[in-house]
Amino acid sequence: MAAFITRMNLRTTSILALALGLVGARRPQARVDNGLALTPPMGWNSWNHFGCNVSESLIRETADSMAANGMRDAGYRYVVIDDCWQVSRAADGTIVADPVRFPHGIGALADYVHSKGLRFGIYTDAGTKTCQGRPGTYGHEVQDARTYASWHVDYVKEDWCNATGLDAPAQYAKFRDALAHSGRPIVFSICEWGHNQPWDWAPTTGNLWRTTDDIEDKWSSMLTNLDISAQHSTIAGPGAWNDPDMLEVGNGGMTDAEYRAHFSLWAIMAAPLMAGNDVRTMSAATKTILQNPEVIAIDQDSLGAQGVIVWEPAPDVQVWSKKLRDGGIAIVLLNRSSTATKISANFWRAGLHVDSARIRDLWTHADLGKFKSDYATTVSGHAVVMLRVAPIT
Ligand code: GLA
Repeated sequence: MAAFITRMNLRTTSILALALGLVGARRPQARVDNGLALTPPMGWNSWNHFGCNVSESLIRETADSMAANGMRDAGYRYVVIDDCWQVSRAADGTIVADPVRFPHGIGALADYVHSKGLRFGIYTDAGTKTCQGRPGTYGHEVQDARTYASWHVDYVKEDWCNATGLDAPAQYAKFRDALAHSGRPIVFSICEWGHNQPWDWAPTTGNLWRTTDDIEDKWSSMLTNLDISAQHSTIAGPGAWNDPDMLEVGNGGMTDAEYRAHFSLWAIMAAPLMAGNDVRTMSAATKTILQNPEVIAIDQDSLGAQGVIVWEPAPDVQVWSKKLRDGGIAIVLLNRSSTATKISANFWRAGLHVDSARIRDLWTHADLGKFKSDYATTVSGHAVVMLRVAPIT
């Protein structure tokens, strides 16, 4: 269905929606037609941990680590340099990388990242300057997209600083089209923080779009971004994803239980999983969280459904559910409060219309057995339990 919709224009999609009686519900949207990011992008981005302190050696060492420490094999593919790699434009307008921090140039660095079995991403801004005051792409969209393609870039994040007076849907469409004509398949990451209702236009423009302001490495910020992205679940699907911002797992501001919750919630929301820590030096606990194969499989499920809240039995207690390709569901029992609470999930209410199901705990990696109609357990404060639920028919 999604692939079919991709090939149709919006008008045809509206007619189909009418025919299916979907008017009144959110209309299925056409998706950006570049065939990329059919599951949520996974990778690493420099910003959350390193800010402007980016360099060729950091990116090379990060790629080396990701190839050797299990990150690449767990699915983290895109190594993305965020802001501050660029310093100026040449006389002909070509964007110029910092020659001190990137002495061999961006193309050579991309080739190095590729040699590690990884893909390479870069950052720009739709306005005149990036958020850190480096040259933006405004007026150079076609030229920059061609430059990135010539450097073998696989992923571009486009920010929205210094864009006063510009029209976000138009500017991002301009860059989408520039990428489409660059001669290289490039994932397009829109970053206007949800300020211009991206849910109305971004699915036809980019592969992922930020829904929120920047995440901070603390529990309350993670929940704020979660709550905003949760409101737009119906528009996500293969090739087009809500982005509640990059991961903070391993950056030190939350407990490991809170990071497990952060990671589980991003996975059940089918959010992009862009690690934002120092993967060269991460602890064993951080690695275990980021590389949990059973949680990653929920995020990467090919059905591409964004999970939703199905029950809120108390203000700080939520039951989340995500439909999976195999007919089962994933469940997250979220305790937002600081005291342990018993949380119960009912299979029917979670969208699984069977009387009994087999349950697996995705953090203890234990088969819990067969359950009739409900599963209940005590969840610690600021924590989750994440389950995979398979129907018994
Ligand atoms: C904005 C973005 C961040 C990061 C910085 C870089 O704040 O939202 O993700 O890219 O700019 O300056």
